[in-house]
Amino acid sequence: MSKNKKLYIETYGCQMNVADSEVVASILKSDGFDLCSTAMDADLILVNTCSIRDNAEKRVIARGRQLQAMKRKNPELRIGIIGCMAERLSETLFEKLVGIDLLAGPDSYKRLPELLKEVESHKKASDVILSTTETYEDIDPEHYQTGNIAAFVSIMRGCNNFCSYCVVPYTRGRERSRPASSILHEIELLQAQNFKEITLLGQNVNSYYSTESSTEYRFPALLDKVATDFPEMRIRFATSHPKDLSEELVLVMANHNNICKSIHLPVQSGSDAILQRMNRKYSSSAYLKKIELIRKHIPEITISTDVITGFCGETDEDHRATLELMKKADFYYAYMFKYSRREGTAAAKMQDDVPEKIKSERLDEIISVQQELSLQSNKNDIGKTFEVMVEGCSKRSKKQMFGRTGQNKVVVFDAENLLPGTFVKIVITDCTTATLKGEMV
Ligand code: SAH
Ligand code: SF4
Ligand code: F3S
Repeated sequence: MSKNKKLYIETYGCQMNVADSEVVASILKSDGFDLCSTAMDADLILVNTCSIRDNAEKRVIARGRQLQAMKRKNPELRIGIIGCMAERLSETLFEKLVGIDLLAGPDSYKRLPELLKEVESHKKASDVILSTTETYEDIDPEHYQTGNIAAFVSIMRGCNNFCSYCVVPYTRGRERSRPASSILHEIELLQAQNFKEITLLGQNVNSYYSTESSTEYRFPALLDKVATDFPEMRIRFATSHPKDLSEELVLVMANHNNICKSIHLPVQSGSDAILQRMNRKYSSSAYLKKIELIRKHIPEITISTDVITGFCGETDEDHRATLELMKKADFYYAYMFKYSRREGTAAAKMQDDVPEKIKSERLDEIISVQQELSLQSNKNDIGKTFEVMVEGCSKRSKKQMFGRTGQNKVVVFDAENLLPGTFVKIVITDCTTATLKGEMV
């Protein structure tokens, strides 16, 4: 039996947080911790948190209260809040959640061993200082959260875009890119461990920029390099800010079979007045032109998006413009949210004047338009054949397995005992809004 202490990390929020928890796991493994799979077994519980909307924070506070109760029963237990909420709320969290031992912001994870020592000398410990340079380039993350086949690879941190509604530039700090050599090293390790798919991550991957020994990498060059050096890997990336999406990038996507033909391009709103107030730096027609450009080079691509409804001053007309744009853009999938006012952002100074009831009604309409689009997009796939990467057994039946197409759609098909990571050809025979059904060919 190992004498190491047991660490349990609970992750909320975006893919970047998933990747960060894996960095934290690696740092603490070097400090003598072993990961465990339930909070009950842990000596140290870290909650990696998200501040993007009020309900994201409420969930964490509710979870924090449960952990407080665990700590009352086991005073030896150590509990830390890390990530975006630790950054945004800092020491006030010690008052909100009595019993918390430690706070660490997204750029302080290398200091976790030190902070834990402070805790052992009966102090509360906190470091929420943001860095302009930290990219954790020297850490090999423990890829423990996304299975053995697909992994996230962080390529940059922070954000400089200051969309008026968004807390990320405040919780994550200024944008900085991880050196290409460090990214390529991580993918090499993943390939050696038999991973088959990677997703390159950043808040706005299109503004990736690094130079090393006189080689300059912008995102299209980095993506080209990764696709060329790792021909056996499926490659995805997220997120792209529409204003920075270039034809060069689209051509790189078109040129490599192993780059998935799917892109996440958050639009947020279809109204120019709202887009301007959101500080998104594109108009609805500029957005649609980008979509046209992508589809011109990659006709089979699927495009997903994020939409915020009920932003400050949003009229019925603005709302209808969003519904129209969604139809024109023909998204196959969308993440849809009600606007949530975040203290400290530029929009917090505007009037959050769309009543909750209207926000809910508009969200329902947006969801129902998207469901129609998703169903139609899936129906259009019936009769087509796709290369599907097997991910596992279907939850419904042992005789069925599921996987994903390059277009990022889930396909269920009759099969048993295929190894996850195997590629199979599937002809689509039927669908629902959320999944394709098919047969092996
Ligand atoms: N960097 C990514 C998105 C990060 S946050 C990008 O720029 O696209 C993910 C999504 O959360 C955003 O695209 C937006 O749709 C939503 N979001 C961000 N702030 C929000 C807020 N205050 N209220 C509601 N939704 C918000
Ligand atoms: Fe937030 Fe905008 Fe940056 Fe995305 S690009 S993280 S929405 S500020
Ligand atoms: Fe949330 Fe922070 Fe990600 S606020 S969305 S966890 S960058």
